[in-house]
Amino acid sequence: MPQKIIIDTDPGVDDAMAIFFALRSPELDVIGLTTIFGNVHTELATVNALRLLAIAGRTDIPVAEGAHDPLTGPFEGPVPYVHGDDGQGNVNLPPADNRAIPQTAAAFIVEQVMAAPGAITLVPIGPLTNIALALRLEPRIAANVKNVVLMGGNALVPGNASPSAEANIHNDPEAADIVFGAGWPVTMVGLDVTHKTNMTPEHLDAYAQADNPLAQHIARIVPFYRAYFERSFSGVKGIYVHDSSAIAYVIDPTLFEVERWPIRVATQGISRGKTWPALPGVTGPAWEGRPLVNVCVGVDADRVVALELDRLT
Ligand code: BDR
Ligand code: CA
Repeated sequence: MPQKIIIDTDPGVDDAMAIFFALRSPELDVIGLTTIFGNVHTELATVNALRLLAIAGRTDIPVAEGAHDPLTGPFEGPVPYVHGDDGQGNVNLPPADNRAIPQTAAAFIVEQVMAAPGAITLVPIGPLTNIALALRLEPRIAANVKNVVLMGGNALVPGNASPSAEANIHNDPEAADIVFGAGWPVTMVGLDVTHKTNMTPEHLDAYAQADNPLAQHIARIVPFYRAYFERSFSGVKGIYVHDSSAIAYVIDPTLFEVERWPIRVATQGISRGKTWPALPGVTGPAWEGRPLVNVCVGVDADRVVALELDRLT
């Protein structure tokens, strides 16, 4: 039986790649997309999610729009220099004909998880606001979800949105601290592994060669995203694989090496958004009583890249 997943997303070039990777993987059954601010404002994230499902011929999958702002303050704004003004590499996509369902992301998540206890895995690949709101709406989802596999955070490596923090967590650290502390099975697929996983220009060329609409869309949107990596990270050619790494984990956790640590998220000062693990031998009051989280620290990067290319090209 394929695993039922809900992808919470801010599309986003790499979000598009991850959504398509999931849609083309027989191990997974994508039962919904929920949207969040991050790479773009939430309204545009919703339009992009609808557009991506139309490209994939999967308008049967519901899209539920999520929060427009973090839990404790206004959204600081999108990153057009990473994903384009449209979040899809400035390729002028046509408007979406399909519509979001009249239910919030948090309400959709609660309804789906409670209707299928133990069956649904949440895969957040954007800021964690919707997931925290769903927990607030119905705390029992913590006992009824199958897994939460999120792209975000940095345990032992520097950040990308600031020297200390990764972008998804930096966009709503308060929400992330709730999610890491909820006592449900959480796996953090963060920069510790995604910055070790590189899709080279040769890999990216395979999308352009592939004769399917999903790969063709990726081939159109990825050059803008690739240019961001090549000017921002010295020596990098191609892209780092962020959101698709979370999908790869759900398909095959053996691709990753995992440690189990409690995580706190800094909400103040220059560390705002930093995911701090309590490593063995050194703890402190802030980590006491906190649940253990699976933190990905190693990855078979070649196999992750090969798996995604196998599904999409
Ligand atoms: C994360 O930030 C966003 O730009 C990407 O879509 C990914 O979810 C990487 O830090
Ligand atoms: Ca994302």
